[in-house]
Amino acid sequence: MTKPRILLIIGGGIAAYKSIELVRLLRKAGYVVRCVITRAGEQFVTPLTLAALSENKVYTNLFDLKDEVEMGHIQLSREADLVVVAPATADLLAKMAAGIADDLATTLLLATDKPVLAAPAMNVRMWLHPATQRNVATLRGDGVTVMAPDDGEMACGEFGPGRLPEPAAIKDAIDAALAAGPAITAMTGQPDFAPANHRPLYGRRILITAGPTHEPIDPVRYIANRSSGKQGFAIAAAAAEAGAEVLLVAGPVDLPTPPGVIRVDVETAVEMADEVRQGLPVDAAIMVAAVADWRAADTSVQKIKKDGSGAVPPLALTENPDILAGVAKSAERPTLLIGFAAETNDVIAHAEAKLAKKGCDWIVANDVSADPMGGESNRVHIVSKDGIDSWDRLPKAAVARKLMEKIADELDARSPRQSD
Ligand code: C5P
Repeated sequence: MTKPRILLIIGGGIAAYKSIELVRLLRKAGYVVRCVITRAGEQFVTPLTLAALSENKVYTNLFDLKDEVEMGHIQLSREADLVVVAPATADLLAKMAAGIADDLATTLLLATDKPVLAAPAMNVRMWLHPATQRNVATLRGDGVTVMAPDDGEMACGEFGPGRLPEPAAIKDAIDAALAAGPAITAMTGQPDFAPANHRPLYGRRILITAGPTHEPIDPVRYIANRSSGKQGFAIAAAAAEAGAEVLLVAGPVDLPTPPGVIRVDVETAVEMADEVRQGLPVDAAIMVAAVADWRAADTSVQKIKKDGSGAVPPLALTENPDILAGVAKSAERPTLLIGFAAETNDVIAHAEAKLAKKGCDWIVANDVSADPMGGESNRVHIVSKDGIDSWDRLPKAAVARKLMEKIADELDARSPRQSD
């Protein structure tokens, strides 16, 4: 099997040093890596380091390349399976969104017919600036995968979103983008061509629940579960990327909001049920949240204290509303209603039973016996009245994208879009 070929474009920013680790990870995984570095990028990493690590020539200058062979830059941009921009600076994102081609990197990005993945890195104010957000939305609309930057302390001393995602996370996103490639190819029938404006969910409204819920016992204690929210957030990101208007009702998680997603944070199941009700009507609802089954029957307004006698305080529980079953019965039931089920045994049988019990259209079942919640990949089975669709283990972002293709097809079959 031929190894995936990555064209890595390195923009200018302090985070450029992380591209060295990314090249190392990609080479370790057996990928063929070709690096292109912008003039600003050269201030932070040297072409020599990149050449040594990638074991390939590093390209810096548009005119060198033109001298090399006729239309060398076109060839370079199309030779890869995936074009990755890391770090994608505010300037590079702006040029990409506007279609400016004034150096080798931007010329390749405009000339390529391959999927493009951008990992942004910039100062928090620059990331949050409406101009950058507008550019990100434009690029996503054009079919570019723009990762969310990490949150945290920045080299400049400020705090917030804007840090380059860790090289391991970029590698995961690259794996996901490569895994999603064939699905896009299959849809368009054009090999190796990721169409601009591939927005199969354009004009659709999608509601997603994600994360755990926290059910307070007293002001400092709560009942919770191990849900990380990663799969639900990846689904929200993929839905926005596919052009949908996305409402994400999120339990307490430490994850950045995917670009283009409207997020409402909640803590408890009752709050989540409320927000979901207010979010209807939608075309599809995907309930990924691991909602606590029970909450404390009475919450204490003060911290419950040990009284020294060794007596344990009673903890009476009461059942939480089943949000998914409630939406299924409501007058505003979405055209497509999807539940998730994490099981440790008899995965399919439990999912089939849950499908009937909850009144939804699909249950996305995953086996969490070997890989508990919080991992980076998922092996899922889509259980519906039409049968079982079992997928290989995939990164969560790839599961999300594949699910969006399936949802788009199903919605188009059940209720064609106005514009269709
Ligand atoms: O019953 P169980 O928790 O296994 O069902 C899982 C599915 O039901 C998930 O889609 C979850 O989001 C949803 N659910 C819900 N409200 C609850 C419990 C589960 O929406 N109270």
